[in-house]
Amino acid sequence: MNVTVYVPRDAAAVALGADEVAAAIAAEARAQGKSIRIVRNGSRGLIWLEPMVEVETADGRVAYGPVAVEDVPSLFAAGFLDGGGHRLGHGLTEEIGFLKRQTRLAFARCGIIDPLSLVDYEAHGGLAGLRKALALAPAQIVATVTESGLRGRGGAGFPTGIKWNTVLGARGDTKYVVCNADEGDSGTFADRMIMEGDPFVLIEGMAIAGLATGATKGFVYVRSEYPHAIEAMNAAVKIAGDARVLGTDILGSGKAFDIEIRVGAGAYVCGEETSLLNSLEGKRGVVRAKPPLPAIEGLFGKPTVVNNVISLASVPAILDKGAAFYRDFGMGRSRGTIPIQIAGNVKHGGLFEAAFGMTLGEIVDDVGGGTASGRPVKAVQVGGPLGAYFPRALFDTPFDYEAFAAKDGLIGHAGIVVFDDTVDMLKQARFAFEFCAVESCGKCTPCRIGAVRGAETLDKLGAGVAPEAQKALVADLCNTMKFGSLCALGGFTPYPVMSAMTHFPEDFSPRVAAVAAE
Ligand SMILES: Cc1cc2nc3c(=O)[nH]c(=O)nc-3n(C[C@H](O)[C@H](O)[C@H](O)COP(=O)(O)O)c2cc1C
Ligand code: SF4
Repeated sequence: MNVTVYVPRDAAAVALGADEVAAAIAAEARAQGKSIRIVRNGSRGLIWLEPMVEVETADGRVAYGPVAVEDVPSLFAAGFLDGGGHRLGHGLTEEIGFLKRQTRLAFARCGIIDPLSLVDYEAHGGLAGLRKALALAPAQIVATVTESGLRGRGGAGFPTGIKWNTVLGARGDTKYVVCNADEGDSGTFADRMIMEGDPFVLIEGMAIAGLATGATKGFVYVRSEYPHAIEAMNAAVKIAGDARVLGTDILGSGKAFDIEIRVGAGAYVCGEETSLLNSLEGKRGVVRAKPPLPAIEGLFGKPTVVNNVISLASVPAILDKGAAFYRDFGMGRSRGTIPIQIAGNVKHGGLFEAAFGMTLGEIVDDVGGGTASGRPVKAVQVGGPLGAYFPRALFDTPFDYEAFAAKDGLIGHAGIVVFDDTVDMLKQARFAFEFCAVESCGKCTPCRIGAVRGAETLDKLGAGVAPEAQKALVADLCNTMKFGSLCALGGFTPYPVMSAMTHFPEDFSPRVAAVAAE
């Protein structure tokens, strides 16, 4: 029988040489007259081990990584096709601590199946949620999602069921489901991993959203920087259409839902739902004032569900296993699991899906293994470029929307970027203003002008021009931006700035001898 060898097709693995490794394994097997089957799976999320090659054995999959082309002959010599020992070996994949400690619901199949095999998808529990949804009335589907406690994973943490209920109740001849796959936050890659590693789970989640709200058309808005995800989603939509998972007769039910993949042109603000809708309509990506909510007047003025990839990919398991099953995980008002993305200067970077409630310290120190540089961790930024910088003193904060908000932080899309003690927090604060200035859509004054003035003020502080006055000015400016901005780009930029100033005051002293106030 053919031995199955898994070599990820995930962009991170490919960037690290997975295509060449797969080719080398195929060539070596041919040369040795060994018959193998290579499956290009998604990533398991242990990015520091990519390309991570797995071999199917009688005891389960055995992992090797990071594998380079030059390691391939020695892997064969060590008998890796039978799970033989090798210096790159990690034993049974499922026993690796980083994986074993996780609770994988949205990512249950990612890295396990062939991403574009619908047969494999179904064999691993796929489509069970959709089948159950087809037997329910729209209001029952909405109720299940509401009871599960699922909150939007795109950043704002808004309850998904409540949003769906608004769309269900909205009047409109046409309704839409829009999947936000813009994934602009620094250090985040969960959306990309799902789209590349298990695209059918997103398709299934969107179809369920359509059934729940009466929408028959869905769009996935993917950032242009994700060519592998775009390719995988287009291929998966075609396969799902051919198999009647999508189309005018979903699984023979007579109900309709279709999906189109659209590619963004690259602007952080196009991840904001209303500028995303403008962009989808072919307009400039400028934020729209709310109300009206997209749920009432969204794409082309029609009622629209806008949800993040992970929110939608969480739905099939909720429908399949029930609201109570999902709700049982987590803490407080943060129910279920969250795919945490650990990045930056960290030893074990990757995707870690877990129930809400682990502390930041556990995630960074125990799971992430501390910094890659080996130096002490000084700060971690949680929640993307608009998230706060937390010092070690806040490492006891549990991963929970409310707990982070109570410490003037946010979870956002659950990206964590780790910095060691060489980081200069004044520069990081200045970068936050600069980022906001570059990415601002320009619609409102606090953001458009404030971000530029903020960067200038921090430059003056660094130059020693009346530093105390500059600090007061930055705090005042942040207050104006927080409460006066139209959207969270301007409104949340104060989080990284103020957290840097509050938690790392030692970095906010002049870099040159102080000069007299101007
Ligand atoms: C500047 C800005 C950028 C955003 N970028 C993203 C993004 O890349 N992906 C995303 O899902 N949500 C993003 N959001 C949040 C969306 O506006 C919206 O809340 C989300 O798509 C709703 O889906 P959810 O309820 O499933 O989280 C962004 C918001 C702002 C203000
Ligand atoms: S806060 Fe910035 S990005 Fe948001 S609407 Fe105002 S100018 Fe545009």
